[in-house]
Amino acid sequence: MEKILDIITAKMQKAFADAGYEAAFGRVTVSNRPDLCEYQCNGALAAAKQYKCAPIAIANAVAEKLEKADFSMIEAVMPGFINLKLSDTFLQNYLEGMRTTPDFGVEKFGTGKTVVVDYGGPNVAKPLHIGHLRSAIIGESIKRLFKFFGYNAIGDIHLGDWGLQMGLIISELQERQPDLVYFDKSFTGPYPEEAPFTITELEEIYPAASAKKKEDEAFAEKAHTATFELQQGRPGYRALWQHIMRLSLADMRKIYDNLNVHFEAWLGESDADPYIPAMVADMKARGIAVQSEGAWVIPVAKEDDKKEVPPCILVKSDGSAIYATTDLATMVQRMQDFKPDRMFYITDKRQSLHFEQVFRAAKKAGILPESYLVEHLGFGTMNGADGKPFKTRDGGVMRLEVLIKEMTDFVRAKVVENKIVSDDEVEATTQKIAMAALKYGDLSNQPTKDYVFDMDRFAAFEGNTGPYILYTIVRIKSILSKYGAWENLPIQVPANMYAKELMLAITKAGPALESALASAAPNLICAYIYELSGAVNKFYHETRILTEEDKDLQAGYISLIGLAKQVLETCIDILGFSAPEKM
Ligand code: ARG
Repeated sequence: MEKILDIITAKMQKAFADAGYEAAFGRVTVSNRPDLCEYQCNGALAAAKQYKCAPIAIANAVAEKLEKADFSMIEAVMPGFINLKLSDTFLQNYLEGMRTTPDFGVEKFGTGKTVVVDYGGPNVAKPLHIGHLRSAIIGESIKRLFKFFGYNAIGDIHLGDWGLQMGLIISELQERQPDLVYFDKSFTGPYPEEAPFTITELEEIYPAASAKKKEDEAFAEKAHTATFELQQGRPGYRALWQHIMRLSLADMRKIYDNLNVHFEAWLGESDADPYIPAMVADMKARGIAVQSEGAWVIPVAKEDDKKEVPPCILVKSDGSAIYATTDLATMVQRMQDFKPDRMFYITDKRQSLHFEQVFRAAKKAGILPESYLVEHLGFGTMNGADGKPFKTRDGGVMRLEVLIKEMTDFVRAKVVENKIVSDDEVEATTQKIAMAALKYGDLSNQPTKDYVFDMDRFAAFEGNTGPYILYTIVRIKSILSKYGAWENLPIQVPANMYAKELMLAITKAGPALESALASAAPNLICAYIYELSGAVNKFYHETRILTEEDKDLQAGYISLIGLAKQVLETCIDILGFSAPEKM
C-alpha cells in the first residue's frame, strides 16, 4: 500500500501545480507539533524565495486547491506553513485497506532477493555465555525483519568448530585417557558410537586444557599438532571431533530453541575449510596476497583511511589459516551455494576492524563485487548495574542458561504471586513474559550502544518494557474473546479523539518497519510498538467498549482494536517473542 506521506505529498504537489507553482515544493512531513496538526508542508517558504512573493500568499493559494474531502483541517498559517489533519473518511479507508491487505500492505522489497545473516557464532565445546545473547537476539530479529519484507533470509550460525580449541580438547583427553582407541594410529575402526565423555565433562575439559596451554609449552605444542592433524583428516581425531560436535550442538540447540532463535544453516568454520587451499593458491597466484615476514597478507589500507587498517592476514608464518581466512573462505562458500544479494554479520563491535579488513580483502580478491552490500553490525556491551560488563556475583562470566533461568525465575515468582493464571498455565505464561522481558530489554536499545541489564526494569509490567507490550495485547485479546467473532468487522470512522489517535498510530506501522529495515534497527520497531501500545491503552481507558449499547459503534471499536492487535503481534513476532493468552 502506498504510504500516507506519499499519498498526501502527491496531493500537495498537485495543489502546488494547480496554484501555478512548481510541484516539487509540495513535500509533506509528519507534524513536529502534533498539538496543532498531524501533517505539515513547509514548501511555501522555499517557493516564496523563487517566486519572490510572501510565503503566506502561496500557502493560501495552495490550501485553496487541496481536495477538501481528504482533510478535516487545512490551515495556512504565518509565516507560510500549511497544517493538515486527515479527514475521518480518509483514515477509515486507509485503515480498512491495511486490514484487508496481507501484512498491512507493506511493500515486499526483498522479493527474489537473498540475504545471509551471520549471527550466534558460538564456539563448540565452550558453554554459551551472556556475550552470545545479543548476537542471538539482534540477529534473529534482523533476519525476521528481512523475511517479513519478502527476502529469502538465511540465518547462518557460523560455529567456531575448527580452531585450536579442538586440538586442546583432544590433547587434554589424551593425557587423561591415553588408551582410548582414538589415539591408536593402527586402529582401523569402526569407532564407538558413544562419546568417551559427557557434555558436562566436555565443558570442564576445555577450560582445563586452555589453562594448561598457558603454563605448559609442551602441551601447547601438542595441541597445535593435534589441531593440524585433525584438519589433515586423522581418522581418530575426526571421530572425536564428531563426538564433540554432536554433544555440543545438541546442547546449543536446546538453548537457542529456548530463546526462539532458529538457524536456517548450521554451518561453521569447518565447512569453510575445504575452500581454503584453492582460495589461498588463487590469491597468491594473482598477487592479491603478498608475503610479509613469512606470512601471506592482503594489504587493505586505503589512502583516505582515518585510522590505520593493517593488512588482512591470510596465512600465518607457520602455514596455518586464521579467523580471517575462514571468514573469506566462508564468503566463497556462500556466494557459491546461496548467491546472496547481501550479507550481515552480527557480533560484538570489538570485531569491527576484523570485518573491515575481511570485507576489503574480499572485494579486492573479487570474492564479492566492489559495490556489494556487506555489513558488520557491531553491538555494544551488556553491562551490570555498576556500568561494567555484566558479571556473576563472584566476578565470573555468566552462562547464558543461568541468565535465562534467573530471568525466568524472577518472572515466575511474579506470575505466581499475582495469581495471573491457573497452575497448569504458569510455566507457558512465564516463558513468554520472560522472553519478552529479555529480548525487548535488549532490542529497545540502539544496537551499537551499551546497555544495563536490569531485571527489575525489564520485567516490569509498566513502562517501556516487553511485558507492557504483551499486557496491551493480552488486554485486547481478552476484550475480543468476550465480544465474539470480530475478524470480518470493517473499520469505521473514528468515534472519538482517542480512536483517531489510535488510527493515526496504526497508519505508522509500515513506515516504522521500513525504517527499521533500512537501518537494520529493531529498536525502531520497539519505539513504534511502545507508542502504539500507549494509544491502545489510552483508547481503552477513555472508551467503554464492552458495555457500549450502540452495537454498530461497538463493532467499530472492536475492529479497530483487532487491527491494533494484529499490528502489535506482527511486530513482536519480528522481534522474536509472542504474547500469552492471559497475564
Ligand atoms: N565464533 C566467533 C567468536 O566467538 C564469532 C563468529 C562471528 N561470525 C563470523 N563470521 N566471524 O568471536
